[in-house]
Amino acid sequence: MKRAFLIGYPVGHSLSPTLQNASFATLATAARYELLETPPGELVLAVQRIAEGDAIGANVTVPHKQAIVQYLDGIDESASKVGAVNTIVKRRGRLIGANTDVEGLLRALEDAQVKLAGMQVVVLGAGGAARAAVFAIAGGGAAEITIINRTVERALSLQRSLGLYFPAVRSAVNRLDAIGKANLVVNATSVGMVPDINKTPMPLGHSVQRDAVAFDLVYRPRETHFLRDAKKAGALTIDGLGMLVHQGRASFRMWTGKEAPSARSLYAAVLDSG
Ligand code: ATR
Repeated sequence: MKRAFLIGYPVGHSLSPTLQNASFATLATAARYELLETPPGELVLAVQRIAEGDAIGANVTVPHKQAIVQYLDGIDESASKVGAVNTIVKRRGRLIGANTDVEGLLRALEDAQVKLAGMQVVVLGAGGAARAAVFAIAGGGAAEITIINRTVERALSLQRSLGLYFPAVRSAVNRLDAIGKANLVVNATSVGMVPDINKTPMPLGHSVQRDAVAFDLVYRPRETHFLRDAKKAGALTIDGLGMLVHQGRASFRMWTGKEAPSARSLYAAVLDSG
């Protein structure tokens, strides 16, 4: 039996096992997807586990998407540009980091018929998920991206990377007035995720504008505090399940060389599991 893992902390709430095991079952692949709860400080042990013979790869989630890079044998172009890894694949025994969050996020926006070209966007967060969001959105043709993050140094570092790869995209850091003008506000922090469902990443007194789009990468709960407030303000809301499914399909393709079941069927599988 082959195995794929989810490396993160905490991971108990994750729907990735449901998603990936549905794909393995549908394609009659003799493999299982398992949680590998990895507190900070134990990352090296998790990487050693992925190096063992039965492992075909892993997903990496909060808070390890950037820290994992130093333990891998290499990273592919998708991950080196973004500076974050959400997928590990084995190539001739070597552990290679990749990033399928960019593809996942773009496909989720596409499903919701959001056109990024010319948009003014605010990204809340500056960790691994936020890096993928910023690169996906810049690549999609946004005109301006404002990064808002508790730790300003991380936001500035992400802004510098953005400037290197996308010099034509205007950018700013921690300019809260950008929220009220944004066409799209993305929550790429972990704030609002179970169990802290009463928290919102939105700075106090600020709101997504009417007719704008609010996109939360958090999918547990499906309707976060952030999305509930945005809906009340008249915004279109997109929850994190679509992105989960699309990034997962891309990871599955990298591990197995096979196309996963349709996004629609996997979406149904994760919804069924509650
Ligand atoms: P991931 O790789 O999944 O993005 P991460 O790198 O740990 O995980 O990033 C988590 C993001 O959520 C960061 O932007 C983090 O802000 P800091 O850079 O200031 O740590 C943000 N975040 C997490 N908990 C937060 C909290 N309680 N308040 C504000 N921001 C928070």
